[in-house]
Amino acid sequence: MKLYMLIGHPVEKSPSPAMHNAAFSHLGLECVYVAADVPPQALEDAVGGIRALGVAGVNVTIPHKVSVIPHIDELDESAELAGAVNTLKNVGGKLKGFNTDGAGALRALKSRTQIRGKRVLLLGAGGAARAIAFSLAIAGAELTIANRTIARARALAEDIREKVGRAVECVGLDERELTSRAMDADIIINATSVGMYPDSGRTLLTSGMIPRDAVVFDIVYKPAETRLLREAKKAGASVIAGIEMLVQQGALSFEIWTGKRAPIKVMRKAAEMELRRN
Ligand SMILES: NC(=O)c1ccc[n+]([C@@H]2O[C@H](COP(=O)([O-])OP(=O)(O)OC[C@H]3O[C@@H](n4cnc5c(N)ncnc54)[C@H](OP(=O)(O)O)[C@@H]3O)[C@@H](O)[C@H]2O)c1
Repeated sequence: MKLYMLIGHPVEKSPSPAMHNAAFSHLGLECVYVAADVPPQALEDAVGGIRALGVAGVNVTIPHKVSVIPHIDELDESAELAGAVNTLKNVGGKLKGFNTDGAGALRALKSRTQIRGKRVLLLGAGGAARAIAFSLAIAGAELTIANRTIARARALAEDIREKVGRAVECVGLDERELTSRAMDADIIINATSVGMYPDSGRTLLTSGMIPRDAVVFDIVYKPAETRLLREAKKAGASVIAGIEMLVQQGALSFEIWTGKRAPIKVMRKAAEMELRRN
């Protein structure tokens, strides 16, 4: 029996165990996935435990995505670029870090639209936004990053310019500026935590700020339909919900660990059921 884990703080409401256990069982793999609540001061010991127990693979979530890096052996390019890790693979006792958030978001977007040459307004410059911004820049998007702390957006833009060689524009959340950027965008992505349960009534954009031919993607997955997505529908835009990224980033972790194609439908159904239950 192989052991897989989620480490984060808190983790009790995470849909990841249900999603991965459903995939293991669907493919008849002798594997089990458990969630472990690891407070920040216990992270180093927890990574030692992962090595000692021979845990085969790990998902890493808030608040450990960056702080886990000094404790592991190697990073692949996705984690190196994003400066954050959400997946670990135990390769003969060595822990290699990956980041599937950016590629997961891209897979969710590509099911609906092309990326190359599209004007993308990305809201946020935190951990998830960083991974998504690099993936979008590499895929050839014309990117504008809007963040409450504009210095953080500028630092991310500079990082992308240095590592990927693409220029990125930055704005704050001033309503006039945001409206003009949003009305000019082909794709709008919310990668902030605004609108997340229990603050489900909040949104950075309302229907009058969203063009009707845009694709609007909210990576927040709880609630399943955020206020931003309702505003986008009101504007006539096409929407993508956060569960699509949740499932795709999980599927990519599954594929890194097992080398097998992830059963996406099974994973989506398990995640939906778990999110409804919690
Ligand atoms: N669907 C998925 O698979 C998936 C994967 C990862 C994350 N997520 C979701 O994505 C969200 C962000 O996660 P993260 O890991 O990137 O978090 P994070 O690193 O803490 O970043 C939070 C971001 O939200 C912004 N923000 C927070 N409160 C705000 C407010 N009141 N007004 C305006 N901006 C605000 C922050 O701006 P400042 O820089 O100004 O603080 C920052 O850009 C969470 O809801 C998380 O659940 C979803």
